[in-house]
Amino acid sequence: MNRKDLLGLKDISAEEISEILDTAVGFRAISERRIKKVPTLRGRTVVTFFMENSTRTRMSFDLAAKRLSADTLGFSASSSATKKGETLMDTARNIDAMKPDAIIIRHSAAGSPHMLAKAFPWSVLNAGDGINEHPSQALLDMLTMRDHLGALAGKTVAIVGDVFHSRVARSNIFGLKAMGANVVVAGPGTMCPPQMSSLGVDVRHRIDDVVEDADVIMMLRIQRERLGAAMMSSAREYSRFYGLDLDRLRRASPEVLVMHPGPINRGVEMTPEVADGDRSVIMEQVTNGVAVRMALLSLLLGGEPLGEDHA
Ligand code: CP
Repeated sequence: MNRKDLLGLKDISAEEISEILDTAVGFRAISERRIKKVPTLRGRTVVTFFMENSTRTRMSFDLAAKRLSADTLGFSASSSATKKGETLMDTARNIDAMKPDAIIIRHSAAGSPHMLAKAFPWSVLNAGDGINEHPSQALLDMLTMRDHLGALAGKTVAIVGDVFHSRVARSNIFGLKAMGANVVVAGPGTMCPPQMSSLGVDVRHRIDDVVEDADVIMMLRIQRERLGAAMMSSAREYSRFYGLDLDRLRRASPEVLVMHPGPINRGVEMTPEVADGDRSVIMEQVTNGVAVRMALLSLLLGGEPLGEDHA
């Protein structure tokens, strides 16, 4: 892959996505071993720079870097000098002075990874910027879909919920469209406005309109932290009209995959029976997250390919 950074999937090609997913499959076996480490990035330094909360993305990037033998450095909003008023650029200049090789950034401001990528020589990986993109999440989602469905071209992925405020949805839409999949989104008008069709997706307003034909139903988290008060009347009402329960799931194909990027609001986006049921691949998404992030770090930092003794 001939890139310094991974900022989003907006301009990515199907070939690049396939290269990342194929590389991730090679790395997946490492996590099944007793010694879960290869020397691919020995001597390189990877910084995780999370200015918003995270469990999955932060842990799996950290684990991915460690499994590739990189040195890792963690940085969070609560424990850093940003609390004392330091700007993002000043913080980045100080990190730059310590000579990192890659920075993985999550920030509430859309475009902040792009700003760092332009200003500094190290690789920048976007771990979620505001409501813009979350590319590594979409890549792990696509790997999970590909594991079950084979080629993504012609498959139908229904994304349900607060699509407008979802960086996960936006990156999935770009990536899935690049791979030739059909994407249909469903949610209330405030969360799925008609202008979303400019992204090449079908826009519907009833979950029952999208469940039957879907190969994948991706339920999105209700982002209470980004929602204005007028976005929905109550969690109970949202759940009644847009939540995935067993009754709705019975109308879908018996082979359908149920996905969610996490964290789940159980009983809001989906019932526990669906989240933990036999169509759910949510934990596979998490497992694939480590392999995809190993692939991204290795490809962006020019790590040695896995030799026969490591593959
Ligand atoms: N899917 C996701 O981004 O989860 P975290 O917020 O826990 O990283």
